[in-house]
Amino acid sequence: MTTDRIDFTSLSDEGVTWTLLGTLYLRAWESRRPNPILGDHYAAEAVDRIDYDFAKLRRRVLPGANQYLVALRAKQLDDWCAAFLTRHPDATVLQLGCGLDSRMLRLDPRGERNWFDLDVPGVIDLRRRLYPERGRYRMIPASVTDDAWLPKVPADRPVLIVAEGLFPYLTEAEVGRLLHRLTDRFATGELLFDGLAPWAVRMNGLFRWPVRDGHQIERMNPALTLAGEVPITAHGDLIPARPVRLVYKLMHAVPALRNSLVDYRFTF
Ligand SMILES: C[S@@+](CC[C@H](N)C(=O)[O-])C[C@H]1O[C@@H](n2cnc3c(N)ncnc32)[C@H](O)[C@@H]1O
Repeated sequence: MTTDRIDFTSLSDEGVTWTLLGTLYLRAWESRRPNPILGDHYAAEAVDRIDYDFAKLRRRVLPGANQYLVALRAKQLDDWCAAFLTRHPDATVLQLGCGLDSRMLRLDPRGERNWFDLDVPGVIDLRRRLYPERGRYRMIPASVTDDAWLPKVPADRPVLIVAEGLFPYLTEAEVGRLLHRLTDRFATGELLFDGLAPWAVRMNGLFRWPVRDGHQIERMNPALTLAGEVPITAHGDLIPARPVRLVYKLMHAVPALRNSLVDYRFTF
């Protein structure tokens, strides 16, 4: 990574787009704490390079509590990704709604994988200034709801599809159609994403798609088989701060709270 500063001050703080800076900031924050869970130092390097009103962002994303939420969510997804890539070293990786996430650096630092990161064009413009394409790493500027981009992703090998922090912002119809397009195009692979419980969706006007449980997705698309369903509270033991660890344990004991944010894994 180079060290020149990048101006993000034009990024809208309305709608869903700003949220990519929120998750980046929380991962950076978490990486700087003692005993980090994810330890995403790439996020910390990126934040250091970005010109943006991070003081305002800090008030909005509340690091100190929410850093664990993004770290636990990403750690589970990274672990599932690493296991899949060990079983399928030649796989294609397709990340949807990548924002400024650095998963490709965490899991493929030398750019040896066939890895595609997709987000809307304005986001990919910013992303390119932080993380240039290298090796086999490519970025796709498109909305997931558009039809044109999918044929550009090779379908000649197993695929690992990751959508972190994306599906709650789509409608049920958009998610359903996307999942069918994906399973129609790729013969075999895994789909990893996180879902919010209905009550959590109702708490924020930006969220639109709730997940009640993993079988709901199997009913939406019978090509998908539920292979993992892990509430982020399940890994509360990893939280180094004792008071937050106890809150997570308490949440895990209450079914409605345990299901607030869940990582899902599907095979097809
Ligand atoms: C909460 S951020 C998550 C970003 C990243 N995955 C992470 O964990 O840091 C949501 C991301 O979804 C992207 N997004 C929202 N709607 C999208 C769409 N229709 N097509 C592609 N990306 C979309 C946003 O631009 C944003 O980057």
